[in-house]
Amino acid sequence: MAKILNVTNLGKIYTNGSKKLTVLQDITFKVEEGETFSIVGPSGSGKTTLLGICAGLDRPDSGTVTLCGTELGGLNEDERAILRNRNIGFVFQDFQLLPTLTALENVAVPLELRGDKNALKIGMELLDKVGLQNRFHHYPSQLSGGEQQRVALARAFSNKPSILFADEPTGNLDAETGEKVEQLLFQLNAEAGTTLIIVTHDLELAAKTQNILRLKGGKIIANNETVVS
Ligand SMILES: Nc1ncnc2c1ncn2[C@@H]1O[C@H](COP(=O)(O)OP(=O)(O)OP(=O)(O)O)[C@@H](O)[C@H]1O
Ligand SMILES: [Mg+2]
Repeated sequence: MAKILNVTNLGKIYTNGSKKLTVLQDITFKVEEGETFSIVGPSGSGKTTLLGICAGLDRPDSGTVTLCGTELGGLNEDERAILRNRNIGFVFQDFQLLPTLTALENVAVPLELRGDKNALKIGMELLDKVGLQNRFHHYPSQLSGGEQQRVALARAFSNKPSILFADEPTGNLDAETGEKVEQLLFQLNAEAGTTLIIVTHDLELAAKTQNILRLKGGKIIANNETVVS
């Protein structure tokens, strides 16, 4: 099986004045194409930071990330953006919808930017899939947290990504909606072969993925139940 993500000896340090905070240390793992993979760990253990670096949104201080066959460290900002647009979907912990665009526009705009003439039609289909057929013209401020999360998911699916990074995709949803979103994620994996990397506090959700990576204090403490000392 081909590796879609290969992370080696990754480290990240945040500097606050004279204080240095190591948030990720010696992180090494691999994800195979088409795999479902979860990252779990306490609040502040570095999950969001790790996801951002793996998706090329942020840079590490040490180590390498190879995503879809390309080493991210060798790319400039523009080249990373192109790689992201082509291959990656991202669902953020805080949604990051554009506030001046409606739900439909938020989903359709990335498609329009890619020159897709069916952007609106596809946008409607995607919103329909996440159960928001009656919210096309609402702005993010007029939507509940869970509804915004679902718009963000529809947007993440729009470029048919080969790998989807989702940060707490069900964290703000009630049990029933969370279940639906979970089904959508696994459906995408089954139908389109999309590799899923999910950060979650929900251990039941994590248990449904093929691999669980456990972080604590910025370090890997277990990878698929193999304890790393
Ligand atoms: N820009 C930043 N500057 C300084 N410190 C940061 C910055 N971003 C994150 N941190 C710190 O890095 C650590 C890891 O943060 P991160 O957001 O990756 O945690 P997390 O595992 O996603 O937590 P949660 O489950 O609460 O979302 C935290 O201690 C946080 O305070
Ligand atoms: Mg987080």
